[in-house]
Amino acid sequence: MSIVEKAAEKLKALRSEPQVSPPSAPELDTISPHPAPTVQRLMERGRAADQPPEAASLWHVDLMALERMGFLPANGDGDRRLADEMRRIKRPLLANVTRKGVKAVAHAERIVVTSAAPGEGKSFTAVNLALSLAREPDFEVLLVDGDIAKSNITRAFGLDGQPGLMDVLADERRPPAEVIVRTDVPNLLVVPAGKPCPLVGELFGSRRMEAVLEVFGGPNRRRLVVFDSSPLLATSESQVLASYMGQVVMVVAAGRTRQQALNSSLQSLSDSQYIGLVLNMSQLPTSENHYDCGYGY
Ligand SMILES: Nc1ncnc2c1ncn2[C@@H]1O[C@H](COP(=O)(O)OP(=O)(O)OP(=O)(O)O)[C@@H](O)[C@H]1O
Ligand SMILES: [Mg+2]
Repeated sequence: MSIVEKAAEKLKALRSEPQVSPPSAPELDTISPHPAPTVQRLMERGRAADQPPEAASLWHVDLMALERMGFLPANGDGDRRLADEMRRIKRPLLANVTRKGVKAVAHAERIVVTSAAPGEGKSFTAVNLALSLAREPDFEVLLVDGDIAKSNITRAFGLDGQPGLMDVLADERRPPAEVIVRTDVPNLLVVPAGKPCPLVGELFGSRRMEAVLEVFGGPNRRRLVVFDSSPLLATSESQVLASYMGQVVMVVAAGRTRQQALNSSLQSLSDSQYIGLVLNMSQLPTSENHYDCGYGY
């Protein structure tokens, strides 16, 4: 049989097979909060193969929306300066994760961004720190919305109404990996706050929380888990949340955070934790290469 005849035979055999169209990749910017049948099937297939459903589809991160909501600087120059400031914030955190820091920190891969009072820049810092850490080639980052009442991270990423942290804490049968959303920002995953409930403090303090954190930590040691939090002095659950973390990024708003409040916040943390103080909203001259609302240790 000639090569042409062989090819014709092969084509005929292929045509007689039932046609299975390959699963079409969902358009990144058209993924709806309610998965379309194809996406649903892919998710179920992921589950059946004992894979975390997070691997099944990518959630589109609307950077313009993040900017509109004040979570990213509006101009390119501010962007560059902020990137620089974030590098300075993440270096010591990464040193602790890779055990090159000054002291050994248990669970250094768990990082909470917190502050004494509301409005001091926790969520802003958490988002930008997570984006910066996601650019590290050796790690992936899971950003968790741990401020259940405000759930600003959830809203910023367009994940309102999606199951999240509270849902897996409240229901032990629910696999925690189910609420991990892999995004189209490389190496960035997000966990929304989930359904609010009055027992946040109790659920944060439960045995289930440790199990959930284990899963959030991922199957390998490459994953950094960054929590946004409610203010330490305004809610008791934020102190419970912080107690699980190896590293605490304490945001201090220049000219706003009171010394007494900062002291009380620091006293609520443990000596074994690494605590990084970040000065936010300081008005520094641009010649010092600081963003208008800048950060610095
Ligand atoms: N370094 C910064 N540069 C630009 N804007 C900032 C900066 N830090 C905070 N902001 C802005 O300040 C406001 C409050 O910040 P953010 O929401 O992060 O505070 P928060 O501590 O999370 O507040 P809450 O306790 O209410 O959750 C937001 O509008 C945010 O965009
Ligand atoms: Mg916030």
